[in-house]
Amino acid sequence: MSLLSTENLLEVENLRVSFGTPDGFVTAVNDLNFTLGQGETLGIVGESGSGKSQTAFALMGLLANNGVIKGEARFEGRNILSLHEKEMNRIRSKEIAMIFQDPMTSLNPYMKVGKQLMEVLMLHKGMNKAEAFEASVKMLDAVKMPEARKRMNMYPHEFSGGMRQRVMIAMALLCQPKLLIADEPTTALDVTVQAQILTLLNELKDDFNTSIIMITHDLGVVAGLCDKVLVMYAGQTMEYGSAEDVFYRPTHPYTQGLLQAIPRLDTDAGILSTIPGNPPNLLNLPPGCPFQTRCEYAKDRCVENIPPLEEFASGQLRACHKSVDGWVA
Ligand SMILES: Nc1ncnc2c1ncn2[C@@H]1O[C@H](COP(=O)(O)OP(=O)(O)O)[C@@H](O)[C@H]1O
Ligand SMILES: [Mg+2]
Repeated sequence: MSLLSTENLLEVENLRVSFGTPDGFVTAVNDLNFTLGQGETLGIVGESGSGKSQTAFALMGLLANNGVIKGEARFEGRNILSLHEKEMNRIRSKEIAMIFQDPMTSLNPYMKVGKQLMEVLMLHKGMNKAEAFEASVKMLDAVKMPEARKRMNMYPHEFSGGMRQRVMIAMALLCQPKLLIADEPTTALDVTVQAQILTLLNELKDDFNTSIIMITHDLGVVAGLCDKVLVMYAGQTMEYGSAEDVFYRPTHPYTQGLLQAIPRLDTDAGILSTIPGNPPNLLNLPPGCPFQTRCEYAKDRCVENIPPLEEFASGQLRACHKSVDGWVA
């Protein structure tokens, strides 16, 4: 894994997503930069409202009508933010797939699961019915669906939450996309099922060599899965680097706060610490660093100036005025 990989599948440069609202302009994603290599997994982490989903929607061409995009997202060298609807449709069905927190966003409740899978293959891969049936069963097997053949004949409501999420993952992988964007795919599931789905994604990423953007509010989710992590707050990057660095040597107070909020098996969940306060209203951001109002280390300069995102160690970037080892004058 290298942050400077020359074989980047995706290069996001100064991505900005703003929305016009009756109360003014809000910037949900503020000059985001990251790269993703072939087969690499990037975790985008932050509390609710930090701009994670809007980042994904911008990449998928699925922003709400009042959204405005700036910057570039080069997928295999081509800026996908400026493509026509028809071309973007092709990319969405074949090259980039997305899975959501609620599988029912993508599954038709009135159609048997097998038929939904088969339709994708018949439409996009030109398979006949028999071929599509076998390929669908094979994909359900690949996502470890028990009794895959029998389940082809079932409706989505007949599946448990975890099994529905497996169907979604199968559906997303049918056309062998190069990039899979997973937006909180395990948030609605209980912890055990969540772990199973993460294990599955980890295996699939090796089997299919798919690049993954894993979006989550839970830094714990990215630990075993991601190569790189981008920590977002109020639309801005707080910290970005290899998963190992961000996880074991977090340097931004926000990242440190998120890490302390991860439930651990060896401590009593009752004493779990959460970051006090709430993320700011994007229409009314505090001056300086957006996190300063909640940061225990905040000083005058955090209120006066927005800290720039700077590389302070090889491959690890962060936006914070505090020195890595504490305050120095
Ligand atoms: N259609 C919209 N109009 C105005 N503001 C929006 C719209 N969609 C999202 N936002 C703003 O973008 C912020 C970030 O949203 P989102 O990316 O969904 O956060 P999350 O990190 O929880 O996925 C929201 O808190 C909201 O302020
Ligand atoms: Mg979201």
